[in-house]
Amino acid sequence: MSAPSYDVDFYSDDFIREPWPHYAAMRELGPLVWLPRHGNYALTRYQEVADCLRDPETFCSGRGVAADKTACDLMQGNSIASDGARHSAIRSAMAAPLLPGALEEVRPLIDALAEDLIERLTEQGHFDVMADLASHLPLTVVRDLVGLPDFGKENMLRWGGAAFDLLGVQNPRGREALRIFLEQREFISKHAKRSDLKEGSWTRRIHELVDDGALSADLAPFCIRDYINPSLDTTISATGQLIWQLSKNPEEWKNLREWPDLLTNAVNEAVRLGSPIRSFSRHATRDVPIGDHTIEHGARVMVLYASANRDERVFDEPDTFRVTRNPKRHLGFGSGIHMCVGMHLAQLEMVALLKAMLPRVERIYAGEPAVALNNTIYAFASLPARFERRATTVAPNPDRAKPQHNRSQLIQAHVVERCEIGDGIISLALAADGDSGLPTWTPGAHIDLHIRSGLVRQYSLTGRVAEKTYRIAV
Ligand code: HEM
Repeated sequence: MSAPSYDVDFYSDDFIREPWPHYAAMRELGPLVWLPRHGNYALTRYQEVADCLRDPETFCSGRGVAADKTACDLMQGNSIASDGARHSAIRSAMAAPLLPGALEEVRPLIDALAEDLIERLTEQGHFDVMADLASHLPLTVVRDLVGLPDFGKENMLRWGGAAFDLLGVQNPRGREALRIFLEQREFISKHAKRSDLKEGSWTRRIHELVDDGALSADLAPFCIRDYINPSLDTTISATGQLIWQLSKNPEEWKNLREWPDLLTNAVNEAVRLGSPIRSFSRHATRDVPIGDHTIEHGARVMVLYASANRDERVFDEPDTFRVTRNPKRHLGFGSGIHMCVGMHLAQLEMVALLKAMLPRVERIYAGEPAVALNNTIYAFASLPARFERRATTVAPNPDRAKPQHNRSQLIQAHVVERCEIGDGIISLALAADGDSGLPTWTPGAHIDLHIRSGLVRQYSLTGRVAEKTYRIAV
C-alpha cells in the first residue's frame, strides 16, 4: 500500500511562515507521508523520527541530507552528510572545543558579554530581539572562536543562511544559495590556510591536527565548513523563540526567576517548540516498513524534527511552552550519531542570556514576529520587544510549591545489548535494575553514549564501559 500523499510545497513562503498546521495535518495522515511535489517521503511523528535518527545503517547520511538530488550531491562530505569512518573522523576532529569541559574556558567571557548586553537593552527600552539580542553572542564570541580572517568572519552569517537554503530544494532561494556556497568554498580553499587563521581558534586547530597526522588533509575544509555554517543561525533562531515564548507566557518567566535551575529546561523547551532545523533527509539503504507502508531501498526520506517535536502522542499540550517539561526528550538537536555537536555551546549562550536577565527583567513585552524565509531554518527575521526593569530583588516565596518535572532522575540500569555504531561510539540497550520505582524509565529504551564525542557528558556515567552496570542520570 502506498503512503498517504500530502500535496504541498514544503519550501513555499506560505509553508515556511506558518508550518505548524501542516505538520499537524501530516501527523494526522500517518507516521509516513509522501510529498508528491518533492518526490520524497516524510517521517512526521516522534517515534519514527527518533528510530530513523538512531539507525544510521538503515537511514544513511552519506548520500546527502538535503531535499533534492542536486543539493544532496553538492553538499556531501561534511559531518552531517557522511557515514561511518569518514563521519567519525570529522566529528572527532571538530568536537573537542565544543565539549562541555572545553567550553568552561569561554563561559566567563560569554557570561560577561551577556550581562553587558542585557543591562544595555534593559536600559535602552525598545529593541529588536533578533538584531540586538539573539545575534549578539554568536556574532561576537562564536565568530571569534571560529577564527576566520576578516572577509570570512563578516560573511559567516550570509554563508550559513545560504547553506541552509541549499539544504532544501532548487527554488529561487536554493539557486541563489548555490552561488554563495561556491563563493564560500573558494574562500575556504584559498583563504583558510593555517597562517590566515586566528591563533588558538577552532579552525587553526584543525590545521594543527593535520600537521600532527591526526586528521587527513582532505577532511580539513569540511571540518572548517562545519564550524562556519551551523554555528550562528541555529542559536539565533532558538534565542528568538525563547524570548518570544517567555514574553507570551509571563507565568513561565516567573517560574524561571523563582527556580533558576530550570534555565536549561527553558532553553530546551524553546528548541523543541521552535525547532530551528525544520528537516534534513536520509536515504534508505533497504526496504523499510513503517506501519502499513514501505520506504523503498534508495528512497529519500525527509526527517521532520519540527513535526516530531510537537507530536501529541509524546508531548502533552505540544504547542504550549512549559519550562517544567522533561528537557531531554525533544529532537530539536537531532539524536543518534549525528546529534548536534554544537548543542552545549548553544545552550551555554542561551542560559547566559537568561542568567543575565533574571536579576534585571521583571517582564518581557514582545510584539509579533516576522518569520525569515529560509528553506531549512525556522527563525524570526525581526521581533520588537522591551524589557521592564525589575525594581528590587525579590526573595523566593517559600510557600510556592516547585512544579513537578522529571529531570535528573538517577536510574540504575544494566546493559542488555551493546553495539558499535561508529568509531568510539557505542549504542547500549539498557534495562532498569530490579524495582527501581522510577516512573519515567522504559525498559529497553536506548541511550546513545558518545564516548569520544563528549555527548556522554549529558549523562553522569559511573563505572567503566567494559562493566555491565551503569548508573545514568537522565
Ligand atoms: C540551538 C542551536 C542548534 C540547533 C537547534 C541545532 C540543530 C542540529 C540538528 C537537528 C542536528 C542533527 C542533524 C542530523 O540529524 O542530521 C545538528 C547537527 C550538527 N550541528 Fe547543530 N544545532 C545548533 C547549534 C549548533 C552549533 C552552535 C554548532 C557549531 C558550533 C552546530 C554544529 C553542528 C554540526 C557540525 C552538526 C553535524 C553533526 C554530525 O553530523 O555528527 N550546531 N544540529
